[in-house]
Amino acid sequence: MEKQLESLKLAFSEELNLAGAPEDLEPMRVKYLGRKGALTGILRQMGSLDPEERPRIGSLSNELKVFMEEALAKKLEGLQTHSVFKGIDVTLPGRAPRKGSIHIINQVVRELEDIFLSLGFNIASGPEVEDDYHNFEALNIPEHHPARDMQDTFYFTSDVLLRTHTSPVQIRVMESSGLPVRIIAPGKVYRCDSDVSHTPMFHQIEGLWVEEGITFRHLKGVLNEFIRKLFGPDIPLRFRPSFFPFTEPSAEVDMGCIICKGKGCRVCKNSGWLEILGCGMVDPEVYKYVDIDPETVTGFAFGLGVERVAMLKYGIDDIRMFFENDLRFLKQFS
Ligand code: FA5
Ligand code: MG
Repeated sequence: MEKQLESLKLAFSEELNLAGAPEDLEPMRVKYLGRKGALTGILRQMGSLDPEERPRIGSLSNELKVFMEEALAKKLEGLQTHSVFKGIDVTLPGRAPRKGSIHIINQVVRELEDIFLSLGFNIASGPEVEDDYHNFEALNIPEHHPARDMQDTFYFTSDVLLRTHTSPVQIRVMESSGLPVRIIAPGKVYRCDSDVSHTPMFHQIEGLWVEEGITFRHLKGVLNEFIRKLFGPDIPLRFRPSFFPFTEPSAEVDMGCIICKGKGCRVCKNSGWLEILGCGMVDPEVYKYVDIDPETVTGFAFGLGVERVAMLKYGIDDIRMFFENDLRFLKQFS
């Protein structure tokens, strides 16, 4: 019987070596360990053994049973791991992690900053969560002004809001720094607004130059120089009389629409022009809020829409593309 057990072990081991797939193993288990299997068959003959032989043969066959069970389990594990890697060449280089890049809008902000820095402006900033005083009141925007309407402004409380423009930075800078002032203030602003040329969050760059003897000519000179540096010499600029409570006189500046070359398209609403900024001479009323004597200095301010500039620069006809985070779009500017 001992011989029988040995040759069974041999047959089992040879067969196991040849097994090439996990499915081959269950039939083997049945064949050797099953109720009608080979080992059980041998054990059935135990009765014919000498009583003193029985314990030895019993423990030998038990050892063989454990051996076969463990060998089957080990083989199964090996075959499964192997099948996971089947068809995969593990020596090939892996996938490199994808690199991010600076968002197109931030690229344009930096470019605009560089231009204004080269014109002698410093960079200032202010909070995006503003109070009513800095966003409206000190800018001479009275209580009943439509800009304060809930339809344009995101309010937290009646006094705390998301700034609707970067103009409150004008007030904060004039409150805290001495004269002269020559700053730009880039940043995010928020309005309840959405279509092909408006988004609820967008970027502005505020400009403010307050000093003795500053006139509207300085304003036109700075803005013309800025557009020339950004788009080259051939782009038409148009100053349109306008109104802002914090500037007098005021203007809005349109650029010839680069997308349709002035012919008219959906971005410029078929006018051939796109409004990129509002500007004007600082209203003397504003100086009163920041303790500056309007008899001693004059100044100009402007507020420019960064997305509008980026749309014109890159021929993008829907402002919402900037914020949809579609990698196919963003990658073109990385
Ligand atoms: C203002 O916000 C004034 N604070 C600008 C200003 C500053 C005037 C200093 C005088 C002195 P306005 O609401 O027109 O003005 O916005 C300025 C620019 O922001 C617009 O010309 C336009 O380019 C851009 N803009 C306005 N609303 C949106 C919007 N929802 N989405 C994208 N760009 C916008
Ligand atoms: Mg406007």
